[in-house]
Amino acid sequence: MSEPIIELADGNKIPQIGLGLWQIKDESVFAEAYKAAINAGYRHFDTAQAYHNEQFLGNQIVNSKIDRKDLFITTKIAVQNFGENKSMKSFEASLELLKTDYVDLLLLHFPVPVLRKKTWLRLEDIKRQGLAKSIGVSNFTIKHLEQMQAFANEMPVINQVEMHVFLQQQALLKYCKEKKIVVEAYSPLAHAKSMDNSVINQLSDKYHKSYAQIMLRWAFQQQVVIIPKSVNPKRIEENFNILDFNITDEDMVLLSNQDKNLRTCWNPELVP
Ligand SMILES: NC(=O)c1ccc[n+]([C@@H]2O[C@H](COP(=O)([O-])OP(=O)(O)OC[C@H]3O[C@@H](n4cnc5c(N)ncnc54)[C@H](OP(=O)(O)O)[C@@H]3O)[C@@H](O)[C@H]2O)c1
Repeated sequence: MSEPIIELADGNKIPQIGLGLWQIKDESVFAEAYKAAINAGYRHFDTAQAYHNEQFLGNQIVNSKIDRKDLFITTKIAVQNFGENKSMKSFEASLELLKTDYVDLLLLHFPVPVLRKKTWLRLEDIKRQGLAKSIGVSNFTIKHLEQMQAFANEMPVINQVEMHVFLQQQALLKYCKEKKIVVEAYSPLAHAKSMDNSVINQLSDKYHKSYAQIMLRWAFQQQVVIIPKSVNPKRIEENFNILDFNITDEDMVLLSNQDKNLRTCWNPELVP
């Protein structure tokens, strides 16, 4: 079954399921995960300067049997690389590590106060030069997106934020949909920190799908991009195999009632 694609406001297309690459620090583990992902059907890979594994991904891109144009590669400007010159230099280093002439998506990793403005304008330059096909942000709240409208020449086409059954982000999702900003759910399995919810277990029995597949399908059915991370080939395949079933509206409501505002990563809400 071919993977669904979401069209971005700039006309580019993003595969709706990607492999998250955070915390994969060993190159042989990385290579195995990449291979399993390609075999399962993934073409979308999510790295960041802060993950220190862009070079591993670069080696896989070069050795891959898949054409570069058929891969979707995301990286992110790390917090310490914000600023006009630093962001450009760090991005050039990322391209070298990734062994590619362009990335498909370049994100500001976090709404760093003050510096995010100049850094965003840099991303716009990078896009104009064709070095990033699309540009976006990560961990931005509605307030940060509202502020951007005052200085951005073009608005982000993606906002990558923590989102899962236990942190549903419905106000942000609604706002982004209205503004044609696609939401990309990071930690869609809540970083495996809550794997014993009774409603999810019941639905897992009902649909004959795993706990993880119910969590991922819940996000997927809301038209968000999902980037689960795994280094286990069986789980990598399992996380991709969510295209052959549909959670009913009634059961989606049951899942919507499981929100507990669980943050497993950053909380950007207090950032001015
Ligand atoms: N922009 C940001 O600030 C930001 C922040 C956090 C994450 N991210 C991105 O989002 C990606 C995903 O988030 P995440 O890595 O935090 O967490 P996640 O994908 O929610 O969960 C990953 C954890 O779940 C386990 N797992 C994976 N598949 C499973 C399955 N089918 N059944 C049971 N356990 C499973 C993994 O272990 P195994 O590897 O052993 O399978 C790992 O411990 C990251 O890798 C990164 O690319 C972005």
